[in-house]
Amino acid sequence: MTASRFTLDDRLPADYLTDALHTDVREGLRAAPRTLPPKWFYDKRGSDLFEQITRLPEYYPTRAEQEILGRRAAEIAALTRAATLVELGSGSSRKTRLLLDALTAGGTLRRYAPLDVSGAALSEAGEAICRDYPGLEVAATVADFEHDLALSDEPGPRLLAFLGSTIGNFDPDQRRAFYRTLSLALSSDDVLLLGADLVKDPETLVRAYDDAAGVTAEFNKNVLHVINRELGADFDPDAFDHVAVWNTEEERIEMRLRARRAQTVKIPDVDLSLDLAQGEDMRTEISCKFRRESLTAELKEGGFTVRHWWTDAAGRFALLMAVPS
Ligand code: SAH
Ligand code: AVI
Repeated sequence: MTASRFTLDDRLPADYLTDALHTDVREGLRAAPRTLPPKWFYDKRGSDLFEQITRLPEYYPTRAEQEILGRRAAEIAALTRAATLVELGSGSSRKTRLLLDALTAGGTLRRYAPLDVSGAALSEAGEAICRDYPGLEVAATVADFEHDLALSDEPGPRLLAFLGSTIGNFDPDQRRAFYRTLSLALSSDDVLLLGADLVKDPETLVRAYDDAAGVTAEFNKNVLHVINRELGADFDPDAFDHVAVWNTEEERIEMRLRARRAQTVKIPDVDLSLDLAQGEDMRTEISCKFRRESLTAELKEGGFTVRHWWTDAAGRFALLMAVPS
């Protein structure tokens, strides 16, 4: 029976959409520059579009991280002997299966605890993993990992995976707060497994975020569909261009939506009438890229010591193992 081994705990407050989305839209779209946090991409359609992105020829991070996990999963299982695999921002959990395979073969794993803001992604992935890993308990949590890590009484030692370079969607202040909270929540025998995309030539980076088939453009514009649906807004997604820019100083890709013409957008649920000039941008995501020395240093400052650093053969992406200091 898969049903008894799969639980889905929705920890988002009942008024989460009304409160958090309202605040993010009201404050972010009035600010200069105008911004929206990337977590609002991921309704069912956005999660499906992200899955398509991971298969695009231009989007190398998923394949690069998969390559590292393929080579290192057995070593990670032997080093951690984890009883629980916790995963933040688990999405489809596709790459995670490499860890589940290795930890299952090692005989230590009892529970997989994925956490995501997308309930749809969690249900789909969790049910499938339950089917494919008999004997494994799957305890999924719908939560916002910026506010709730939902860590409690999981059997230890715990391996906490944060893959895909989702850490890059945080700015340095958000990363500092995140490391601090996480290092305090983990025990001394728990381990952090962090995926981080590395700084490389801007052409490769921009291509990865502006693919020829236009899937990333659709993903980017999905946030407008979400705001239209949830807040009764009248954004016309066709009135915006998808733009991916390499910010050299901050070493990050910025995804933006650029108004193709001057327009006024009504967002009734937050009492906002938004006047956009032609060519004006709304920044919808940052995707920071990392260097070994500075990432190790910021983790140290946040309460983690990096023990292992692995990259794919081409040196595009890093997977690191760190322990609470
Ligand atoms: N880890 C997967 C998916 C990465 S996509 C991979 O490596 O391919 C980013 C995932 O994080 C999505 O599933 C999205 O729903 C989730 N996510 C984004 N912001 C979040 C937040 N604030 N809290 C919880 N989950 C979040
Ligand atoms: C989930 N996150 C790490 C992805 C990234 O690369 O920043 C989201 C994404 N945005 C555009 N393409 C993929």
